[in-house]
Amino acid sequence: MMDKAREEDTDFDYKAVAKALSFNMGGHVLHSYFWWEMTPAEKASKEPVGELYDAIKEDFGTFDRFKKEFTQVAAGVEGSGWAALTFCRDTKRLGFMQIEKHNVNLIPDFPLLLVIDVWEHAYYLDYKNERGKFINAFWNIIDWEEIDKYFRTIQ
Ligand SMILES: [Fe+2]
Repeated sequence: MMDKAREEDTDFDYKAVAKALSFNMGGHVLHSYFWWEMTPAEKASKEPVGELYDAIKEDFGTFDRFKKEFTQVAAGVEGSGWAALTFCRDTKRLGFMQIEKHNVNLIPDFPLLLVIDVWEHAYYLDYKNERGKFINAFWNIIDWEEIDKYFRTIQ
C-alpha cells in the first residue's frame, strides 16, 4: 500500500497504516510468544527458575505476590486484549502491561517475558465466559525454564 502510493505519488493515511500494522504484527508477535512460552503440564516447573526467579523476588517479594498481581492485570483487561510481563533494560525492573486488542507499539523497548491472551476466543471453548478459571489454569503450563533462558539474553 505504501509502496504503491509512493510509486504513484499519491497520499496514504499513515495513522491508519500504523494502526493496522500494529494490530496485525502485534497479533503475530503475541501469539507466537504465547505458543512458545507454554509447555505440557507434566513438564512445567510451576514456579519461575534461575535469574528470572531472583528478579521476581527482588521486584515483587514473593512469587505468590507476583502471581496475584499478574492475575489481576490479566483479569482486568477491558474487552479483548492481553496481559504481559515485560522488562525495562534501563531500570532493570520487571513490569506489567495491559495490551488493547493486539496493539504492541511498546514492544521494541520492552521485551515480552510472559503473555496471556485474554480475548474470549482464547478460553470460551473450555471455560465459557470464565476468564478467571482460564487464567488460573494457565499457571500450570508455563515453561519457566525456557523463559529464564531467554531472560538471560535480554539484560
Ligand atoms: Fe488469540
